[in-house]
Amino acid sequence: MAACARITGWGKALPQRVLTNHDLERMVETSDEWIRTRTGISERRIAGPTESTLTLAVQAAREAVAVAGIAPAAIDLIIVCTFSPEFGGMPSTASLVQDALGASRAGAFDLNAACSGFVYGLAMAQATIVAGAHETVLVIGAETMSRLIDWSDRSTCVLFGDGAGAVVVERGAAGTGVLSCVLGSDGSGGELLCIPAGGSRQPASPETVQSARHFIRMNGKEVYRFAVTTLPRAARAALDRVGLAVADVDLFVPHQANIRIIQSAAEALGIPMSRVFTNVDRYGNTSAASIPIALCEAVEQGRLAQGDTVLLAGFGGGLSWGAAVVEWTEPARASACRLQPAPARVALPAGHVQPAG
Ligand code: ACO
Repeated sequence: MAACARITGWGKALPQRVLTNHDLERMVETSDEWIRTRTGISERRIAGPTESTLTLAVQAAREAVAVAGIAPAAIDLIIVCTFSPEFGGMPSTASLVQDALGASRAGAFDLNAACSGFVYGLAMAQATIVAGAHETVLVIGAETMSRLIDWSDRSTCVLFGDGAGAVVVERGAAGTGVLSCVLGSDGSGGELLCIPAGGSRQPASPETVQSARHFIRMNGKEVYRFAVTTLPRAARAALDRVGLAVADVDLFVPHQANIRIIQSAAEALGIPMSRVFTNVDRYGNTSAASIPIALCEAVEQGRLAQGDTVLLAGFGGGLSWGAAVVEWTEPARASACRLQPAPARVALPAGHVQPAG
């Protein structure tokens, strides 16, 4: 039987600092009631001055590697899914993670598919493992959205949070693990969710900084419309690809952007909310980190058992979307490693910039 790609380790990292809706009431013209009823978010985590995309990524990765019970030198490839990387262009955050972990044999690159990033990363891990090019791949979704937010723009600043989630994906012998992945993109909607400046079209200048064009701009209504149609369609396509029905899904772990989008997708699919994992109330939208953080919490809360069918689905800037079906396999090594203490945080490189907000 062909090789398969199994998730054998998982980890997450969230900043200590909590920013509640009531805190936001003091920063912009908004209310706890507006934010909760429109998005389901009550609070989010915000990186402190010693935290960044790299430190969160490394913390989540160390946990995932410990759960998998592997040595860092066993990792062949590191994929960091992010659109808030440690540096603007290079080095990649993945290369810095490789160094911090001591993953001496690993190749490393960053992947940008915005909030769909983790599903894209998982698809790449599966493909390269099944092709026989790599055996052990570390996929990390890590974001410090707080550094890309205009804290005076109430239409975006209430939505996002910081964090990281990671999984170790290893070659397995049988047809289990990651069963299918479906990826998609519609670049005609690129400007609906966009950071206008800082790229080759509008390089950084005093004028781009002054006009706040290095921050996220979003057409919320259009993105909402796109999300509620695309999420269920992508999820169904991933199930169809392996001949599974919605009734076979034990747990749906969607991108955590907005509880109304999640509820709408679940309803369109016919999945009861009791089989949907949500934590958007506590973390907001952590972009590429949201699915691996949710997956990690689902495992920690005992929501997944050997043989369960897990459906992952994300959407985001690009526009982009992705869905994956995973047959959950509880790795034998995991239980022994799960209680390892949290690793120490990595030091930030010199020149680190203090966060806004
Ligand atoms: N507090 C109070 N009022 C607000 C706020 C706020 N934080 N933000 C906007 N409003 C106001 C608007 O100005 C508007 O006022 P107006 O009617 O006087 O013009 C009113 O509230 C209604 O705004 P709507 O846009 O109609 O609110 P809606 O119900 O559409 O909810 C929301 C807005 C939550 C942004 C929703 O559209 C949404 O979730 N969209 C999807 C966003 C998303 O998921 N983005 C992430 C994609 S993933 C990635 O790649 C990053």
